[in-house]
Amino acid sequence: MHLHKFEKIWLIFGGVTLVAFIIVLAINAFSHGHHPPSDLNRVVPAMVDQTAPFDQPGLVKKGENKYDLNMPSFAFGYAPAEQVIPLGAEVTFRTTSKDVIHGFAIPGTNVNMMVVPGHVNTATTTFTKAGEYMVICNEYCGAGHHMMMAKLVVK
Ligand code: CUA
Repeated sequence: MHLHKFEKIWLIFGGVTLVAFIIVLAINAFSHGHHPPSDLNRVVPAMVDQTAPFDQPGLVKKGENKYDLNMPSFAFGYAPAEQVIPLGAEVTFRTTSKDVIHGFAIPGTNVNMMVVPGHVNTATTTFTKAGEYMVICNEYCGAGHHMMMAKLVVK
């Protein structure tokens, strides 16, 4: 088979570009210790209920108006399902999944996490307005996805 000179040049150019692209992609994907957007904290999904702090879900006071809210995600809900939060509190939400990928979003705040099994994810927000807030799942996770929520009462 005879290839025209320009065909050869373009084939080589295409091949070299593809290899260069894959090398750049591989280096960027793995070289800097990249990982899913979460803490480096890991947890075994099946052991979440036995692993601190998720063995005792709920609010933990950490300082003056500072709290941790440890809230495992699962199909289809969060624990606890309802939580009272003092007005003005800075709350660090900490979650992980006991099964599949879920979302953890609180409309009206900056909290919007993807919850990946095996990883612990955190987000911090300050509640300056009293009222009811919802934690909702924004990753499709199965038959009960649309019912997956928890209530936060800030007062
Ligand atoms: Cu959990 Cu959708």
